[in-house]
Amino acid sequence: MPYLELDGNMVYFAGNQDKEGIPLLFCHGSGGGHHHWLYQLKAMPPPVKPLAFDLPGHGRSDNTPLDDVYMYRDWLKLFSQSFGLKNFILTGHSLGGAIAMAYALEHPEDLHGLILVGTGARLRVLPAFLEELKQGRVPETMIEYLYAPGASEELVNLGLREMKNTAPEVYLADLTACDNFDIRENLSQISLPTLIICGSEDSLTPVKYSQFLKENIPQSRLEIIEGAGHMAMLEQPDAVNRAIAKFIEEDLL
Ligand code: COA
Repeated sequence: MPYLELDGNMVYFAGNQDKEGIPLLFCHGSGGGHHHWLYQLKAMPPPVKPLAFDLPGHGRSDNTPLDDVYMYRDWLKLFSQSFGLKNFILTGHSLGGAIAMAYALEHPEDLHGLILVGTGARLRVLPAFLEELKQGRVPETMIEYLYAPGASEELVNLGLREMKNTAPEVYLADLTACDNFDIRENLSQISLPTLIICGSEDSLTPVKYSQFLKENIPQSRLEIIEGAGHMAMLEQPDAVNRAIAKFIEEDLL
């Protein structure tokens, strides 16, 4: 099993560990895990080597989740250093996108490029979600916001099962981190080639959040995935993979 020991805690990761190639590191969102990038891990061809991990307290990683984007950023710095990653492309979804932007602002010298999927410069959370979590329950209505109306029943059922198997404490920590995040004033300092991806039907981080990122991050391009919701990389993996491959080929190689 591929685990890395970090400060005495085990971190699970999956993907390509070849020495050669450009590392493409994927960071999942609230309550998620490396499996949210299943189709990207399978499909990214050399010279790119895709890698995904479980944040602390998520999936197969031990330890507890963090409730602050900047603490996750510092954890990610430790992870990338311990893994020996240099000049890598960092991809983040939702909360993972916030962590990726915070990382790009603090450690741009580590990165070759940035990919932001279904995220925003400010990630306020519906107070009803936080209230229910504080009472120890995962708000299952969240599922209605995660996928586009046309998403397959199988995918939605898998998402619901995952949600039921995730402790409310994990969502509470992650969504608290989202709720306190706001870097709208700092976006122009992101100095890396950046691809922004958003599903046209995303109702958790609507397209206007991605348009704002596009308008304020200097070297950025925006790809809207028609018909996809917040989980675009699972809902329409081929379209997301095409957008990533095109960005790497045209802006990074
Ligand atoms: N990028 C750009 N602009 C943003 C932004 C972002 N990431 N987040 C908020 N804004 C803007 C809004 O467009 C709005 O501008 P407007 O008044 O010109 O339309 C303004 O900031 C206020 O934003 P709003 O989201 O309406 O804040 P609010 O405090 O009134 O509402 C919520 C809070 C939670 C109701 C709302 O953000 C929401 O519905 N969120 C989506 C659901 C959710 O929980 N998402 C989880 C994210 S991980």
